[in-house]
Amino acid sequence: MTMILVTGGAGYIGSHACVALLAAGEDVVVFDNFSNSSPIALQRVQQICGKSLIAVEGDIRDERAIEQVLTQYNCTAVMHFAGLKSVQDSVAEPLEYYDQNVIGSHRLLRAMQRSGVKTMVFSSSATVYGTPKFLPYTEDHPLNPVNPYGRTKLIIEDMLRDQYVSDPSWGIAILRYFNPVGAHESGLIGEDPRGVPNNLVPFVAQVAIGRRERLNIWGADYDTPDGTGVRDYIHVMDLALGHLSALKALDSPKCFSVNLGTGTGSSVLEVVRAFEKACGSTIPYDIKSRRPGDIDAYYAATETASRLMGWTAARSLEAMCADHWRWQSNNPNGYC
Ligand code: NAD
Ligand code: UD1
Repeated sequence: MTMILVTGGAGYIGSHACVALLAAGEDVVVFDNFSNSSPIALQRVQQICGKSLIAVEGDIRDERAIEQVLTQYNCTAVMHFAGLKSVQDSVAEPLEYYDQNVIGSHRLLRAMQRSGVKTMVFSSSATVYGTPKFLPYTEDHPLNPVNPYGRTKLIIEDMLRDQYVSDPSWGIAILRYFNPVGAHESGLIGEDPRGVPNNLVPFVAQVAIGRRERLNIWGADYDTPDGTGVRDYIHVMDLALGHLSALKALDSPKCFSVNLGTGTGSSVLEVVRAFEKACGSTIPYDIKSRRPGDIDAYYAATETASRLMGWTAARSLEAMCADHWRWQSNNPNGYC
């Protein structure tokens, strides 16, 4: 049994990772400033697992506070989810994104170095690849992010790789997520976006529950089988289990980057149909012009995750929609 520090553990993906960690017998201390989450999520995590975790409110840019938590609780590893994640906002407020994501991660790493904690699992994103030169994206695809959010992720990745070169006794797993959707099967935790959701599945779920009237489909003239954009949607619990596999793979020092996706692309219309099946009602939609910055299709090569961590995603698009709908219908207004 070990103590894992989970930064951003109250957020969408972090809360599901906490469930996976507690269920695997690990102890957890969450460090979160709740800027985009609710402490209720952590109560629900404990309810699901029948086991408690430690929650500390704080900002990852507060190096001393992190160092104190790492030493006080004898942490052996860090799962680092904390940060800002909206592509749109990162274009409007780049300095805020560089501050919270890059400087925040730098301070976290320095606190780890000072307290001798050398194991890190980091939330990166498929966004680091940029416009596809070929598909599926393999981990050696050129890294050329096209927005400030993606560039913050690439800078953090580079910082982690440089740290490993300087001290190969570190263990670092860089996980590049594709499109996380769904919720824990209990329906107790899930994604609770503030304001109007940008992402497809949260928007569809809010149409299904009656919080929004119609879905706008951003483009039906893409070079895809039905003309709508294709993405690699991955169930958030598969993603959470990927973090456990990464942690196990770090039982000896190494540094690696892997895609966490299913390897299968689904179109917007396929997602809408799967969600309609899950919720039992029709999702009204309008076809609109393309959203700036969107690309036709992308999906993951999955062999590296399978080879290095023995992990593959198991849950179907139908399960993602069913679980997302259970969360949304049990909590129409999220954690409020
Ligand atoms: P989220 O916003 O739900 O969770 C992030 C958590 O970090 C929140 O609880 C927030 O309060 C906390 N936080 C933010 N800034 C902080 C700071 N300075 N100090 C302490 N806590 C802070 O996001 P998520 O969807 O769970 O994403 C988690 C991570 O995964 C992020 O790093 C994100 O960039 C990355 N990621 C997410 C997606 C996605 O689609 N959700 C895709 C690829 C990568
Ligand atoms: C976006 C982010 C990406 C992030 C990912 C997380 C951009 C450019 N990229 O990716 O960095 O990692 O979210 O899941 O923002 N769609 C609609 N109507 C909607 C919403 C979306 O038709 O209301 C379509 C989009 O055009 C796209 C697909 O649905 O074809 C998926 O969109 P979205 O969920 O926003 O994810 P990405 O654009 O892949």
